[in-house]
Amino acid sequence: MLHVLLIPQFFLSSMVNTFQTYETSDAPVDDIERILAMVPSYNRHAYPNQDLENATEVYIQMYIEGMSSFRAQTMDFQLDIYFQEKWEDRRLVHNNTKRILVKDPKLFSLIWHPDLYFANARTAEFHHVTRPNFLVWIYPNGTVWYDCRVSLTALCMQNLARYPMDTQKCDLRILSYAYDNEQVIIKWNSDKPIDTNPDIRMPDMRLRSIQPGLRNDTYATGVWSCALAEFVVDREITHHIIQSYVPTALIVIISWFSFWLDVEAVPGRVSLSITTLLTLATQSSAARMALPQASYVKAIDVWMGACMAFVFSAMIEFTVVNYCTRRKSRKHRDRRTGLAEQVQNLVKNYREEKAA
Ligand SMILES: *[C@@H]1O[C@H](CO)[C@@H](O)[C@H](O)[C@H]1NC(C)=O
Ligand SMILES: *[C@@H]1O[C@H](CO)[C@@H](O)[C@H](O)[C@H]1NC(C)=O
Ligand SMILES: *[C@@H]1O[C@H](CO)[C@@H](O)[C@H](O)[C@H]1NC(C)=O
Ligand SMILES: *[C@@H]1O[C@H](CO)[C@@H](O)[C@H](O)[C@H]1NC(C)=O
Repeated sequence: MLHVLLIPQFFLSSMVNTFQTYETSDAPVDDIERILAMVPSYNRHAYPNQDLENATEVYIQMYIEGMSSFRAQTMDFQLDIYFQEKWEDRRLVHNNTKRILVKDPKLFSLIWHPDLYFANARTAEFHHVTRPNFLVWIYPNGTVWYDCRVSLTALCMQNLARYPMDTQKCDLRILSYAYDNEQVIIKWNSDKPIDTNPDIRMPDMRLRSIQPGLRNDTYATGVWSCALAEFVVDREITHHIIQSYVPTALIVIISWFSFWLDVEAVPGRVSLSITTLLTLATQSSAARMALPQASYVKAIDVWMGACMAFVFSAMIEFTVVNYCTRRKSRKHRDRRTGLAEQVQNLVKNYREEKAA
């Protein structure tokens, strides 16, 4: 009986033991601490070339895994990227033959790393499932490679004057928060800095190009090195042709049908004109539903305005024609009564003459 009770306990303790030995023999944990132990004066807030007083060059690159549409209503777009940074920290030179892998955020926080951020991001977040999505490689020559996965919503002010035939340019600005131009210089990694997933499809936009760029930004606090990724997207017109242009064009053509109706058919012509006018108003408000209340005239407004003018002028035409017809017929009737009177007068005169 005692044996039966002891067996599971033994099994459990051996399992715990294997886990413990597994954890303690995890090489990277030892490695980075050993390297740091060799550099007693390692200051993790000091950038790598601080004593030489020249800037650390941080090379960045990214792979765009996913991208959502550029929303005009909120003036932003979403990105899902693998973001990679590379820099050289001579203090981390080690004797291992291979690069060291760091997977523990706590260990990574022991070494210096650039505090890059996305300046025009509204929100940004790391991924943590099932483990924090990042990796750090430390090469024997002190080169550090950092790779992480970020989802962000970036602001992008769109000019909608040519909507929906527009092309939008949106920047993603990347800069260091604490280290200025003289401490950290951001550069794009030379070979293909921005790569995209070929499967990226946006429902109403087409990605034309992504251009990397560099510049120095001057703020009140100083000059900061800044990397830019300029997204150029074209709006897909097909959706708008099907959704807005064809229906409104048809409505205008329908409004012309009233020209073939009889001028006397007042209820038919009026109801046709009014119905087309109201349908057009509904269409134009539906087309503007996805847009912010911009105070300038957009291309779609010009189109809708022109359609409205056509339908409205068809209605005016009917009113004028109807009015003219009625006036003419009244004049005609006047003349007719005049004739009758004349005839009656003539008859009366003839009778009077005869009587006389
Ligand atoms: C850093 O300074 C050293 C010595 O002044 C110089 O040789 C080296 O080219 C500088 N490095 C950079 C990246 O400017
Ligand atoms: C690398 O190995 C050399 C020679 O064995 C030794 O002198 C040096 O201190 C080692 N450096 C590090 C960072 O371990
Ligand atoms: C350090 O090693 C990496 C990987 O082998 C290499 O890509 C990089 O060019 C090296 N850096 C220098 C400064 O030699
Ligand atoms: C930014 O300024 C630094 C130092 O003034 C200069 O070396 C560098 O070329 C500038 N970069 C750009 C992109 O203008």
